[in-house]
Amino acid sequence: MSAFMDDSFLEDRHDSIVHIPRDLPVSSEIVGNSEVKFLFINSNSAIYKTIFTFIKDFAFLFLTPKEIEILKGFSVDKRRVEWVMGRICIKSLLLHCMGWKQGFHRIEILKGESGEPLVVLKQNGFKIYQPSYFVSLSHRNGSCVSALSKNPVGIDLEIAENLDNSMMEDYFDCREKDLLDSLLSHLVNFNIPLGWSMKESVLKVLKLGLSVSPKSVTIESIDPDYMTALLKYEHQQEFECKFIIEHPYIISISSMR
Ligand SMILES: CC(C)(COP(=O)(O)OP(=O)(O)OC[C@H]1O[C@@H](n2cnc3c(N)ncnc32)[C@H](O)[C@@H]1OP(=O)(O)O)[C@@H](O)C(=O)NCCC(=O)NCCS
Repeated sequence: MSAFMDDSFLEDRHDSIVHIPRDLPVSSEIVGNSEVKFLFINSNSAIYKTIFTFIKDFAFLFLTPKEIEILKGFSVDKRRVEWVMGRICIKSLLLHCMGWKQGFHRIEILKGESGEPLVVLKQNGFKIYQPSYFVSLSHRNGSCVSALSKNPVGIDLEIAENLDNSMMEDYFDCREKDLLDSLLSHLVNFNIPLGWSMKESVLKVLKLGLSVSPKSVTIESIDPDYMTALLKYEHQQEFECKFIIEHPYIISISSMR
């Protein structure tokens, strides 16, 4: 039985014609003290192309009426696709981890007070249940990644590319710069987006996003062999970050220690 199976929302499970793909690339990591499940949908993958073809005409099968209203508010096509893909990415992860086969339209992903994603389960349009686990989401260049955990979690997706060194001065102090520079032999030249991604994932755990300076999160140490890092918020609260390279992307997942 999955670690996420303790939710009693299984009665009405044959009410949708949409099935999650069998071969969903769901992975699992222990980050800090938490088990985190995550799903990365690369825009070059066959799964992405299948979903993309389907949602052009049938996005409503994946969404609740409230989500459809929100979708109508986006005027830019790219943002619409990204937004729907993000919901599908979170919902697929939830369905997979809970062992359900269907029911996308009964899961609603709302925005919390700071913009963080919140999960609500619905039946006949009514909220029946707010699960006790946490989700996080990130998009980049059409690809998206979602995370699910019983504890607060943050996930971020960045492109592993060589960025202008001026970013180093803006977002990292001298000690962090040395730590990130020491990775150059391991990670070729994408130490800056890696450091940025680690910080952003911590700011998502805290639900702060970029409402605070990225400098409020500091990288304290990095272990390139285990691909983990220790970060602190305001020099106090500790977080562990696990980073994964899915070329050409970096995925950072953070949770409290
Ligand atoms: C969180 C944030 C840093 C991510 O920015 P980004 O790198 O451009 O985007 P990502 O793709 O990595 O992440 C976007 C997702 O993060 C989530 N998110 C947004 N704000 C968040 C927050 N405060 N905490 C945690 N997650 C957040 C959302 O699910 C969003 O996806 P969605 O809009 O499709 O639902 C950015 O959205 C941000 O700083 N928001 C500002 C917070 C703020 O000032 N809020 C004011 C009230 S809305």
